[in-house]
Formats: sequence, C-alpha cells, structure tokens
Amino acid sequence: MDESAALLAEIERALAAAPTREAALAAVCRLVATRRPGYDWVGFYCVDPERPRELVLGPFVGEPTEHTRIPFGRGICGQVAERAETMVVEDVTAEANHLACSLAVRSEIVVPILVRGRFVAQLDIDSHQPARFGPADRALCEAICARLAPLFAGEAPQ
Ligand code: SME
Repeated sequence: MDESAALLAEIERALAAAPTREAALAAVCRLVATRRPGYDWVGFYCVDPERPRELVLGPFVGEPTEHTRIPFGRGICGQVAERAETMVVEDVTAEANHLACSLAVRSEIVVPILVRGRFVAQLDIDSHQPARFGPADRALCEAICARLAPLFAGEAPQ
C-alpha cells in the first residue's frame, strides 16, 4: 500500500472513531501534519452559518494565526471559497491576494469541501518549502476532502 493510501486508511479509521465533526477534523489535522513532511500548517476553515460569506477557523495544527475569520474573496482561502476549486500556490510571495500567516510560509494548497456542489469548508495547508505541493499532494488532499464532505451534509440542505 503506498503512503497516500495508508494515510487515507488511517483517516478513515480516525473518522469512524471521532465523536464529533470537530474531533474528526482535529484528528485529520494531526495525521496529515505528522505523516507528510513539509506540511507545516494544516487546518480547516468552515463557512460561518451565521455569516455565509465568511470563513471561520476550525481545527488546525501549526503556528497560531491571526486569520481566524476570512471574508470570501480575501486571500487564497477566500478565493477558494468563491471559486469552489483547489488552489495550489508554489510561491505565496508571488500571489498578490494572499494573507500571510508567517514569514516562513513559502507555498500553500487550499482544497474546497463541497456538499451537493455547495462550498461548505476547506482544507488549508502551508509549507515552509517552495513549491511543496505537486499533483500527488493535490490528489491526496482532494481525496481527504471528499471523505470529509459527509460530515458537513447538514450545511447544504437538499
Ligand atoms: N494564507 C491563507 C490564510 C490562512 S493561513 O494560511 C492559516 C490565505 O492566503 O488565505
């Protein structure tokens, strides 16, 4: 079994054991951050049900961030919330619409979580390495987000 498949299997087990969505997301952050070298900040932003055009910080692993709330459209996270598509940024200093959480961050990937086509949350990963996230990283993160979508089913009524 390759590393990505093994990690996904561990995530499935963690999701089955988690008593709440928050606990499940926190377990995913810990597993991803510890199993993937160069994944230096791993966290989730979720749509605030009270303010549907705003992201609120969820569970994360890494340095604390001042960006606890992000309006749609602002930063890489806010762009992904608008577009509902993955963004891979090889050099965050070259991205005009970027919210810096730390001067050590060099590259970032943000992957949307969709329920019935509606954006509900996202997985955000920063790396201190330039261009850390390649096609295999993107495929892994998108597979993780696909497995997490059912946790947000209530956020997108039929
Ligand atoms: N860099 C993100 C902000 C969140 S920090 O990475 C935790 C952005 O540009 O939206």
